[in-house]
Amino acid sequence: MNMLQMADKNWDGKPMESAAERFGLREMPDLTYTPAVARETAPLYERVKMHIPEIEWPVFAPYIHAINRLKKERGAVILAHNYQTPEIFHCVADIGGDSLQLAREAGNVDAEIIVQCGVHFMAETSKLLNPEKTVLIPDMRAGCSLSESITGADVRRLKAANPGVPVVTYVNTSADVKAETDICCTSSNALAIVESFKEDTVFCIPDEYLAMNIAKQTSKKILTWKGHCEVHERFTAAELLAYKEADPGIQIIGHPECHPDVIAVCDFSGSTAQMINYVKDERPPRVLLVTECSMASNIESEAPGVEFIKPCNLCPHMKRITLPKILESLVYMKEEVTIDPAIADRARLAVERMVNLGK
Ligand code: 13P
Ligand code: SF4
Repeated sequence: MNMLQMADKNWDGKPMESAAERFGLREMPDLTYTPAVARETAPLYERVKMHIPEIEWPVFAPYIHAINRLKKERGAVILAHNYQTPEIFHCVADIGGDSLQLAREAGNVDAEIIVQCGVHFMAETSKLLNPEKTVLIPDMRAGCSLSESITGADVRRLKAANPGVPVVTYVNTSADVKAETDICCTSSNALAIVESFKEDTVFCIPDEYLAMNIAKQTSKKILTWKGHCEVHERFTAAELLAYKEADPGIQIIGHPECHPDVIAVCDFSGSTAQMINYVKDERPPRVLLVTECSMASNIESEAPGVEFIKPCNLCPHMKRITLPKILESLVYMKEEVTIDPAIADRARLAVERMVNLGK
């Protein structure tokens, strides 16, 4: 357990009651696949039938039915990242998107309770933007190799050794890292944010490859850190070139967390939402997505005529979030994301600056 989860005071300094105390527990619903459940979930099955065989639907449907009921009853909203599995993304999420879209949407949510289907830093970002709301993550262990690569103390050391150099921090970091930085970025706005500074040298941390990819597009000197995404660092230029050789008509689109040699082989690079938009707008006949597996599955049903080639890698952290755990979250009001008030205000500023820059 880290210091962020140990905070025992609310955002307003009052002793914290648990979410279960504030909202009460519910009974675990009956999970029988009844004719009523089959009827009510049939339209949702249409959205995922490319990925879930009909014979398996009776296992998924009762969870989906129960989650959607309880979500309404609790007045909760479910935010899901583009890497969530299709049954989460298409059947229980109210809002889906990339990190920036989810941060923006989190700032506009009316609901009292946010269930974040994604990784811990995303839930923390939602909490930062909604200090008075209850933010739940279905599995507290859903981390991120980039977030774990750096601490607030590391950033303080970098700043002490490089006074006056602005610090842009990828949103894939903990709140104590965000608290030490000038502004956050995501892969969709990193270049614009780096360029928004008048200084010639800018820190872009902790993703070394994202920083190297940005450095290729700007005249600024970029200082970085040796953090990597454990999913995207596994792709190689050689494997992509082999696909291209076998099928010269294929379009390759990659996430900027990949090594620059990989991005050099891609026809397009962008955040997960930018990749989705590219596929929907360009409709390439065959496309290879150089990113997490669920992305292709989630867009496939919305991009008819596009054939997806999937040399995907799974993000083990994103995959910790499952339908049974989402249901448990709503029944028992867990796991609640809390942030030490001593760092929350500074971390919030860094996120708000990013969100406001795009407005
Ligand atoms: P996006 O901001 O592109 O959604 O990326 C988040 C992420 O974790 C990619 O690995
Ligand atoms: Fe972190 Fe990579 Fe997983 Fe994204 S895909 S959450 S960057 S480990």
